[in-house]
Amino acid sequence: MTDTLSNTFNPAVSADAVPAASPPATAQGRVPRKPDVMVPIRSLGENHRARIASHLKALDAHDRYYRFGFAANDAQIDRYVDGLNFERDEIFGIYNRYLVLIAVAHLAYAPDTGANPSAEFGVSVLPQARGRHYGARLFERAVMHARNVGVSKMYVHVLSENTAMLRIASHAGATFVRDGAETEGHLMLPPATLGSHLIELVEEQLAQANYKIKVQARQISNTLSSLQSAWRGSDGTEKSE
Ligand SMILES: CC(C)(COP(=O)(O)OP(=O)(O)OC[C@H]1O[C@@H](n2cnc3c(N)ncnc32)[C@H](O)[C@@H]1OP(=O)(O)O)[C@@H](O)C(=O)NCCC(=O)NCCS
Repeated sequence: MTDTLSNTFNPAVSADAVPAASPPATAQGRVPRKPDVMVPIRSLGENHRARIASHLKALDAHDRYYRFGFAANDAQIDRYVDGLNFERDEIFGIYNRYLVLIAVAHLAYAPDTGANPSAEFGVSVLPQARGRHYGARLFERAVMHARNVGVSKMYVHVLSENTAMLRIASHAGATFVRDGAETEGHLMLPPATLGSHLIELVEEQLAQANYKIKVQARQISNTLSSLQSAWRGSDGTEKSE
């Protein structure tokens, strides 16, 4: 597998998707299409490093093989995560309500930033959260971000048997070159617009707010549990006044 970028290194479970408001029924009485779903995808920073490692280590050998091009062991995952550069690259994630990182995407910029800057995309979704288009949403988010920072070409290196990833890239309009067991997809990105900047800004703000709410909900739940335990006492019986 090509290894030009840091992304492909060689060294409970809903995301609380928020349905958008349902579109009104049409005058002809046709049933409108299913409402779009807003998935809270947030940009991850340094303080998420440990959770990214836990996410990747939760993948089995087969998924690690798909993700990295070889069945990375835990030590290799640790090296990959330690090497993540949050200043240079962009890491996106989806947390569920229990603050488990159920999906992670890495947009790694090519080192030679010439006239046609490019980036490589890699993604993983925990098995129990698959089939909900989180992978596709992360790809779309990465495309938008890449456009907004001036990237004109996005790559994805996929094992040729990885139908799900090929579908994600193909739906986005990628073209593919197959080389035996591996396939390289690339997508030419249109330039950024005011709209693409605004959409990304709003999506990021909503995702950050969603994350904060989940953190607060967990804190309240922990406090309530502690109070209940204290009230019941160590023997499990309720304390009398
Ligand atoms: C690839 C991966 C990220 C897809 O995540 P996901 O959230 O389940 O994907 P989506 O729900 O967005 O589905 C994408 C498309 O693939 C299809 N798909 C999903 N799983 C599939 C499977 N096992 N076989 C065939 N098609 C599948 C979906 O139906 C969808 O197609 P559609 O839009 O035409 O309906 C996930 O399977 C994964 O983490 N795999 C291990 C790591 C990996 O392969 N990473 C990619 C290489 S960088």
